[in-house]
Parts: sequence; structure tokens; C-alpha cells
Amino acid sequence: SRLYVLAVAITKDIDFYSRFSPSPLSMKQFLDFGSENACEKTSFAFLRQELPVRLANIMKEINLLPDHLLRTPSVRLVQSWYGHIYIYIFYTYNRIHYTTILLHSFTDAVIKIRNRHNDVIPTMAQGVVEYKDTYGMDPVVSQNVQYFLDRFYMSRISIRMLLNQHTLLFGGKVKVNPAHPKQIGGIDPHCHVSDVIRDAFENARNLCDRYYMNSPDLILEEFNPKEKDKPITVVYVPSHLYHMVFELFKNAMRATMELYGDSMEYPPIQAHVALGTEDLTVKVSDRGGGVPLRKIDRLFTYTYSTAPKPDIERSHAAPLVSAYYC
Ligand SMILES: Nc1ncnc2c1ncn2[C@@H]1O[C@H](COP(=O)(O)OP(=O)(O)O)[C@@H](O)[C@H]1O
Ligand SMILES: [Mg+2]
Repeated sequence: SRLYVLAVAITKDIDFYSRFSPSPLSMKQFLDFGSENACEKTSFAFLRQELPVRLANIMKEINLLPDHLLRTPSVRLVQSWYGHIYIYIFYTYNRIHYTTILLHSFTDAVIKIRNRHNDVIPTMAQGVVEYKDTYGMDPVVSQNVQYFLDRFYMSRISIRMLLNQHTLLFGGKVKVNPAHPKQIGGIDPHCHVSDVIRDAFENARNLCDRYYMNSPDLILEEFNPKEKDKPITVVYVPSHLYHMVFELFKNAMRATMELYGDSMEYPPIQAHVALGTEDLTVKVSDRGGGVPLRKIDRLFTYTYSTAPKPDIERSHAAPLVSAYYC
């Protein structure tokens, strides 16, 4: 019965917190906070309010998924993970006064939570696969799942961004990350775009070499209209840029390798980086045969792939397939 009381209390709290909207934070706010007066106590106080709000909002949305999808073991597992952090953050840290020890224990807890949640994406994807295999996917369900997953993954990125900034700034003894001394937490005020792109290419290429015994080259061009000879840099989270181009390179490589088969020469993959007045554009192109116009819409759905189905348990077996594929 104590458990029941706890369950009721949690449900009430989630209802309460889900009525607040997450507070949007700009890159500038992240930077200002991280550089000048990074204060662990302020960060703690902010997270203690903000994490329950963001968690409660997304937990409410998980609950709106179709019943059969909610009942798959994988979605249940994801739900239980979210429940655990919620209880942990909320009940351990909500009603006590600040002490230095408490602040440190919070930062440790945040690191543990983040690590324990590493498998959320493949597990959620697995849930969708289980559902699709048993019940199929009609267009309405497919659209709802798509809408949900977009929001779910976005929410997860935002929560992890908050957790990361806190742990990167306060987790170690010094505020400076020795591997990236100029970064403020996960943000690089001078993110060197082409370096990140080359790095992602090399790593995709290693996978490609392992799988196909060969790989295409990269031709990278930059257009920096303001400062023609200078490399393009932007304020950005390098790991996010890395993930995006890494996925595009894997796709481009797979298409190229499959079209050209055993011939020993492959048309290179091209990347164009262009800095506009408001945006930065990265365009990746390949000569792997493309996608028919008729199928273009499917590219952005989580359930579309022409790759052999990856085995989630052994995801390394199909190295060029994306982690988001359901
Ligand atoms: N550059 C490309 N050239 C040809 N087909 C592509 C390309 N990128 C994506 N595709 C097609 O879109 C599908 C979905 O891509 P993606 O969402 O990255 O999932 P995955 O790579 O895991 O299959 C691929 O399986 C492939 O059929
Ligand atoms: Mg892919």
C-alpha cells in the first residue's frame, strides 16, 4: 500500500509539473551562464525545477501512445527508466536545503542518470519494431508515432543537453574540459565546421571499409563569403553536427558501394559548407544512384529503410545503418 501511495503521489506530481512548459534556453544563455558566473548552486536550482517539467511533459506524451505500443516490453522499459529519474530527481532533491555535499551528490546523480539512459533510442525503436511486427502500421498510427518520436527525441536531446552542461561544468575538479579547453560544456564558441565533418567522414569510412573492404573519398569545399580565406566557425554543439553528418555519410557510402559493387573505383562523396547571413548549410551529395521522387517522403519517417534489418542486440553487425531506424 505504500507503493500505491507513492504511485498516486507521482501521478499527481507529473500532472502538476506537466502543466508548465519547458523554459527555452538560447545558445547565448548557455554560453553566458557557462563562461562568466558558472555557479553550481544556480544550475542545481534551475535543473531541480526544469528537469521535472521536461520529464513530466514527455512522460505524459508517452502515455498517449497507442495501447498496444505502450504494452510492448521495450516501451515499458523506457517508461520505467523515465519513472526512475523522475522519482530520483524529484524526491531526492526537491525538498531539501542546499549544502555543498548535496550539490556534489546531485552532480554525481546526474552523471549516473545520463549513463543509465544511453539505450533509450534503440530501445524505443525496438518497441516500434515489436509493435509493427505484431500489429502492422496503418497510415494514421504511423503518423502519430512519427509525431511522437520527433517530439520524444527532441525532448531527450534537450534534457541531455541540460544534464551535459551541468556535468561538464561541475562534474570535474576544473571547469575546463582538457580534451576541448575552449568549449563551454558541450558548446564550442568557435566550432570548426570542416574539422567536425572530416572527423565524421573518417569514422563512417572506417565502418565502410570494414563492411565493404573499400570506401569512397571525400571532397570538401567551404564557402565563407565574409572572410574568404578563413575556415568557417560557428557557435555550436560539435557532437550534434557530428551525428548529423555521420548519418548522412553512412547513407552516402552505402549507396555508393552498393551501386558500384566490386569495381575498384568509386565516385567521391562531396560536402559543401556554406555560411549564409543567418544559417550555415552543409550539403552532402553522392553518386550512389539517389532516391526515387516517389519515395522521398518516406526518407524522413523512422520506419523506412532499405537496409537489411539490424539486430538490435548486435547493432554492430550492420554498421552503416542508423541508430534511429525502427
Ligand atoms: N544518399 C542516399 N542515396 C540513396 N539512398 C539513400 C540515401 N540516403 C538514404 N537513402 C535511402 O533511405 C533509407 C533510409 O535511410 P536512413 O533513415 O538513414 O536509415 P538507414 O540508413 O538505417 O536505412 C535508406 O535505407 C536508403 O534506402
Ligand atoms: Mg542511414
